[in-house]
Amino acid sequence: MTQDELKDAVAAAAIDEIRPLLARNCVLGIGTGSTADRFIDRLAPLRDDFQGAVASSEASAERLRRHGIEVFELNSIGTVPVYIDGADEVNAHLQMIKGGGAALTREKVVAACAERFVCIADDSKKVERLGEFPLPVEVIPMARSYVARELVRLGAEPVYRQGVVTDNGNEIIDCYEFMIDDPVAMEARINAIVGVVTNGLFAARGADVLLLGTADGVQRLLP
Ligand code: A5P
Repeated sequence: MTQDELKDAVAAAAIDEIRPLLARNCVLGIGTGSTADRFIDRLAPLRDDFQGAVASSEASAERLRRHGIEVFELNSIGTVPVYIDGADEVNAHLQMIKGGGAALTREKVVAACAERFVCIADDSKKVERLGEFPLPVEVIPMARSYVARELVRLGAEPVYRQGVVTDNGNEIIDCYEFMIDDPVAMEARINAIVGVVTNGLFAARGADVLLLGTADGVQRLLP
């Protein structure tokens, strides 16, 4: 199976996963990326079975609206029963690196407001140890050089992601050569650097369920 077919399979499995939650007053949390896009496309025919969605990026909000799904501001909703999103890497504890699409901060905010996080990914994303994928860090622009120097002190090789401005008006530094032994501790250490908005480690709050697309079918994995 191709990677695209595996993404389609997990998107379909995610519909089955969340279908029991759908109700007239249900607002879903929806993530960002090519796997989340496939989920949005499969959600469209069910638009009359739930109220709407909160999106983790302008791109996903736009896709939802195009499908006739109402998009709500998170501040007007409070909590969502479930957040569905992809990952760039995920380990056996369902801790993740996210933010390859630069949406990490809004993703983390919506995930924090979700009762459950359902991660959807093809099996190329499953790793023993997080860090092969460069860890994204969102920074306010005037702090970029300072944060990069602090990231070097933590052992990373920081690279400024040229030409990218986040939905929040900030910039992204990607941390290369940065294998992560203690994701919870590293998530907190990076977030403590002045000028960092957040980093792409989802460790303190990982996923509750992983739907993993493999050649043998979709596996449903728990932490
Ligand atoms: C967006 O910023 C990311 O966190 C995505 O969720 C992640 O990159 C997964 O994207 P794909 O589904 O496109 O692989």
